[in-house]
Amino acid sequence: MEVVIAPAGELARLAAGAVEELLRARPEAVLGLATGSSPLAVYDELARRHKEGLSFARARAFMLDEYVGLPADHPERYRNVIKKEIASRVDFAPGAVQGPDGLAADLPAACAAYEAAIADAGGVDLQILGIGTDGHIAFNEPGSSLASRTRIKTLTRQTREDNARFFGGSVDDVPRHCLTQGLATIMSARHLVLLASGRAKAEAVHQLVEGPVSAMWPATIMQLHPHATVLVDDAAASRLQLADYYRQTYADKPDWQGL
Ligand code: GLP
Repeated sequence: MEVVIAPAGELARLAAGAVEELLRARPEAVLGLATGSSPLAVYDELARRHKEGLSFARARAFMLDEYVGLPADHPERYRNVIKKEIASRVDFAPGAVQGPDGLAADLPAACAAYEAAIADAGGVDLQILGIGTDGHIAFNEPGSSLASRTRIKTLTRQTREDNARFFGGSVDDVPRHCLTQGLATIMSARHLVLLASGRAKAEAVHQLVEGPVSAMWPATIMQLHPHATVLVDDAAASRLQLADYYRQTYADKPDWQGL
């Protein structure tokens, strides 16, 4: 696991740079897109690079998760969020961005179909991730099976309170259920790039990087991934015991070595 501690703007440029490098090498690459506020600066940077010539026309993308039951035109439905924040700002082909169907009549079947679609695409090459204050990635809440695949989950009170800001501050308006890629689904992606900023994420980041691997902090599964990059600002890094070592490692990193 590589840990980079840097100002937020630099983190977004690093993540966007990894996406650009991948797309230049393999224009048909498969991206994994996350919602939440953490990746927004990365999407801004990718939209800027698109204007300068970076093309997504042959790429595909899969979303991490979706609320169950939000109406098709609800602005917080993750499909609509991803469309607004990135898909509509670059040149993905129609239908190239997919997400789990939180309005399906048969939700377990929709989850199985989503797993099959990811597999049919050859798996995700680069997965962008945020992290919840309780250590969730996608919507894999504490207690999630480390071997889980896309399925229905019940959101914790903490996550619903954290996300209430997107629903006019009303926790009651945040759905109780979601569909989410499982931890094993996420671990199948070839490169994981997680972004976190702010003191509220400091404990989750400490557990993710330095805690024991445990379903209680689902993001800790990333310690078992052969290519995981954790991009954090100073506040999110404030509880890291080996912060000085991570800073030194990044400062000493050869120029030719990418993320
Ligand atoms: C939601 C999403 C996660 C995201 C998390 C953190 O729960 N399902 O994918 O990582 O929020 O969000 P933020 O980046 O806004 O802190």
